[in-house]
Amino acid sequence: MNITPFDAPLGAKVSGLDLSLTLDEHSFSDLYAAWLEHSVLVIPDQSLTELALVEFSQRLGQLELPPASETRARGDGGASLPEIWTISNVKVDGVAIGGLGNFEADWHTDMSYLETPPIASVLYAREIPEVGANTSFADMYAALDSMPAGLRQRLSDIRVQHDSAYTSVGTLRDGATKVGDASEAVGAIHPAVRTHPETNRQALYMGRRLNASIQNMPMEQSEGLLDEIWSFCTQRQFVYEHVWQIGDLVMWDNRCTIHRRDAFDSEQRRIMWRTQVNAR
Ligand SMILES: [Fe+2]
Repeated sequence: MNITPFDAPLGAKVSGLDLSLTLDEHSFSDLYAAWLEHSVLVIPDQSLTELALVEFSQRLGQLELPPASETRARGDGGASLPEIWTISNVKVDGVAIGGLGNFEADWHTDMSYLETPPIASVLYAREIPEVGANTSFADMYAALDSMPAGLRQRLSDIRVQHDSAYTSVGTLRDGATKVGDASEAVGAIHPAVRTHPETNRQALYMGRRLNASIQNMPMEQSEGLLDEIWSFCTQRQFVYEHVWQIGDLVMWDNRCTIHRRDAFDSEQRRIMWRTQVNAR
């Protein structure tokens, strides 16, 4: 196994690995250590069955099942195992086989609206469009480390209200109630700065901008500070942008990264299989 860090603040490519075969303990712990160190690993050229993806993901931790509201059409490349969430714009008889369509997904970390959000996400590319749909990752350790002292100090004790109602492409989840403004958001509250339990490094943890608010702060002030933090932490210098190839498996650490996705041509097919991993 070879691990080559990207020319970016985070992320590394792993070559010489076939995840359709069961990794021995030694290789798995090397891979896990590299994942903690680089936060995002790209493992190209994989040919995985649904079961192989689930079995590999389960070595990272317990899998979070998609909510019942995420039920989609079956077939045409969508996954059939319940542990796999299909992310796709493909439709069968007018019903999508997966989530997020072909839209742009704004910066976020996965499911931060839960009290205990998934630690990892694994995304495996089955079909991709010719262009578009790149996924960018931003390093929330680096963002925090390089923050100007004044802004960093204003973050010290703040807690952020996260919102569960909308997806990363801004659509209302099935069964969720519309949120008029950020004061109506329903979801978990997390500190803006958290210590990663495995690396013991501090990272910025903002979830997503939409409908976020800072606890015990007047809304206008909260909006201003959130805008300032978000425009700082999404700067190019903190980002690795991934251009997908079929067979890429990307695994990222939701505790210290955020990600976004470009839109793509609605006439083209994109099918990704994803697992969400909870702490062991
Ligand atoms: Fe996501």
